[in-house]
Amino acid sequence: MPLVAPLPQFPLFYCVKHPLIAHKLSLLRDKTTPAKIFRELVSEVTLLIAYEATQNLELNQVSITTPLETMLTPMLKDRYPVIVPILRAGLGMTESFLQLIPEARIGHIGLYRDEESLQPKQYYFKIPRNSENSAYFICDPMLATGGSTTKAISLLKERGIRHITLVCLVAAPEGVQVVASAHPDVTIYTASLDRQLNEQGYILPGLGDAGDRIFGTK
Ligand code: PRP
Ligand code: URA
Repeated sequence: MPLVAPLPQFPLFYCVKHPLIAHKLSLLRDKTTPAKIFRELVSEVTLLIAYEATQNLELNQVSITTPLETMLTPMLKDRYPVIVPILRAGLGMTESFLQLIPEARIGHIGLYRDEESLQPKQYYFKIPRNSENSAYFICDPMLATGGSTTKAISLLKERGIRHITLVCLVAAPEGVQVVASAHPDVTIYTASLDRQLNEQGYILPGLGDAGDRIFGTK
């Protein structure tokens, strides 16, 4: 059982434990890791977490015919779940989800953190039509104060979306508390629960600014 729920007060918070995730996360944290390798590692860790985060997708029994006989066999009830990267850094996680669910649809939520207030500022929102009943997977590598993901979840709920899972790579306890309090129905998966936030709202020990490291902007 690779899943650990380390905060008993948050029953829907899961830290995915696996030696490959631990190893790759250490490489991600290393400040000497160049952008190309960083991007590849984000994809690889996301793939490993996404496998766990999709474990509750519903199945239907469907009739198919093998070369030998007809049988009832499980297939995804909804072939088109929705992946929603939070721009920018969440983009680095999208391709891994598509590898697992190639027919998934993609929404985008553009948010950036104001450097002074640390409050999320929205600049883009687009999700697929008629997707209210689909499973949604929000992707963002960093759950720091929790402001961005709380806002993203609220925006989706305002549109009637109810089945929301949040997938991140590194979470701060402060952010988990904020998201879980605002949205106790949302399941959170992460690769690591780090120690704390610093005064600038960065996760410690963390991995730095995920967007800048993925896109090489610093
Ligand atoms: C980062 C990160 C999250 C947010 C987390 O994005 O990718 O979206 O910060 O912080 P929070 O939990 O305190 O809201 P950022 O705002 O730096 O934007 P970027 O992805 O465009 O760099
Ligand atoms: N956003 C990041 O990219 N990193 C942090 O540590 C906090 C917010």
